[in-house]
Amino acid sequence: MYRPARASLNSRFLNPYVVFFAVVAGVVILAVVIALLIHFLAFDKKSYFYHSSFQILNVNYSDNLNSPATQQYRTLSERIESVITTTFKESDLKNQFIGVHVVKLRQSGSGVIADTVMKFKFPRNNNGASMKSRIESVLRQMLNNFGNLEINLPTEITTITDEDAIHLITQECGARPDLMTLSAERVIGGTNAEEGDWPWQVSLQLDNVHHCGGILIGNTWILTAAHCFRSNSDPSRWTVTFGVSTTFPQKTERVSTILIHKDYNSGTHENDIAVMKLSRTITFNKDIHMVCLPEATQNISPGSTAYVTGWGSQINGGDTVTDLRQGRVYIISNDVCNAQISYDGAVLPGMLCAGLPEGGVDACRGDSGGPLVQQDSRRLWFLVGIVSWGDQCALANKPGVYTRVTAYREWITQQTGI
Ligand code: ARG
Repeated sequence: MYRPARASLNSRFLNPYVVFFAVVAGVVILAVVIALLIHFLAFDKKSYFYHSSFQILNVNYSDNLNSPATQQYRTLSERIESVITTTFKESDLKNQFIGVHVVKLRQSGSGVIADTVMKFKFPRNNNGASMKSRIESVLRQMLNNFGNLEINLPTEITTITDEDAIHLITQECGARPDLMTLSAERVIGGTNAEEGDWPWQVSLQLDNVHHCGGILIGNTWILTAAHCFRSNSDPSRWTVTFGVSTTFPQKTERVSTILIHKDYNSGTHENDIAVMKLSRTITFNKDIHMVCLPEATQNISPGSTAYVTGWGSQINGGDTVTDLRQGRVYIISNDVCNAQISYDGAVLPGMLCAGLPEGGVDACRGDSGGPLVQQDSRRLWFLVGIVSWGDQCALANKPGVYTRVTAYREWITQQTGI
C-alpha cells in the first residue's frame, strides 16, 4: 500500500541531533557576524593624512635652507619633526599618531614656514572632522612646549587624501611614501625589488635593449656612467624606461642630449660620469621620482649601509635580468679598498668602494650607471655612488667601485643646474 513519506520526514525533522546541530550552527554564524561587525566598526583602523604649515619665528631663512641636503635643512626639519612627535606622543592621541614629515621648508618674510604631512590611524567609524579638532586642540595645548623653537601654531590643519599625501611627499627628493610608517626594514641582499622601492632607478636602452642603469635626479635629468656611451652616444638611439620591469615598463621616454664628462678616462675609469636630458618633463608619482643629491662636503662613513640596484647579471658573464634587483652592501674606505689584496692603488679619490668583505653581493655587468644610495637620519634617500667598475663580480676583497657623487657635485650643477 502506498504511504505518503510525510510521516517519516516529520520524524527526521524532530530528530534531536538535527535540532541540536541546527541551533549550534545558528549560534556560531551569529557570533561570527557580530564579531565582524565589532571589528569593522571599532577596531579596523584606517590611516588619515593631514597637511599643516607651521611658522618658525626665531629662525632666519637663509640660502642654506633651500636644499634638503644641507646640514641646516636637516637639523631644522629634524627639530620640527621631533617637537611635533613629542607633542603627540605625550597627548591622548599617542596611540593614534603615526608620524610627521616636513615636506618643505620655505621662506616667509625673514622667517621660515615648514609644510608638514601628519599621519594618524583611527577606527573607521570615527569621523574625520572630530579627529581634526582633537588634533588641533593637542597642538594648542602644547603651545609652550616647543623647546627652543618659537612656533606659530598653524591657522589650519587640512585633511588630505592618501593620494595628496603621496603627491606632497614624492615631490621632495629621496622620499618614499613609507617614510612615515616606522616599518621594520625589509631584508635585502640580492633580492627582487617591489614597484616604488627605488623610484629613481631607470633603465637606459640602446635601440630598445637594456644597456645600463641610470638615476633620476630631476624631472628632466638622468645621471649615469660615462662608460655606458663607449659604443654609442647618439641620443636618438637611446630611450629611458621607468618602473621595476624592463619588459613591461611603466613609462618610456626619449633622450634629447647626452653630456659625458670631458675627462673620462677609460683606462683608469676616472670621471666615469655623464648626464642625459629627457625630451619631455616627467610627472612624478609614487613609483617614479627623484633621489636626493648630497652636498659636496657630505661625509660618507666607512661601514655604513648602502643599497645598490639594477638589472645587471647575477653571475659574472651572465645575462641581464628583466626585473629590478637590490643588494645591501657596506661602504669601504679608499684606504682599505687600495690594499694589495684588493685594488692595490687603483681606487682614485673620485671613486668609492662598497661591498661585503666576503663578497657575495655586488653590482655586475648591466648595472653600470645605476645608483648606490643611503638613507639619512630623516629616512630620505641620498645618492652616494654610480656603478662604475670592479674585478669580476662579488668576489671576496674585490668590492664594487663607484663614481663618488660628492666629488662631482659641482660638475652635476654645471651641467644641469641641479
Ligand atoms: N662595468 C660594468 C657595466 O658596464 C659594471 C661593473 C660593476 N662591477 C662590479 N663588480 N661592481 O655594467
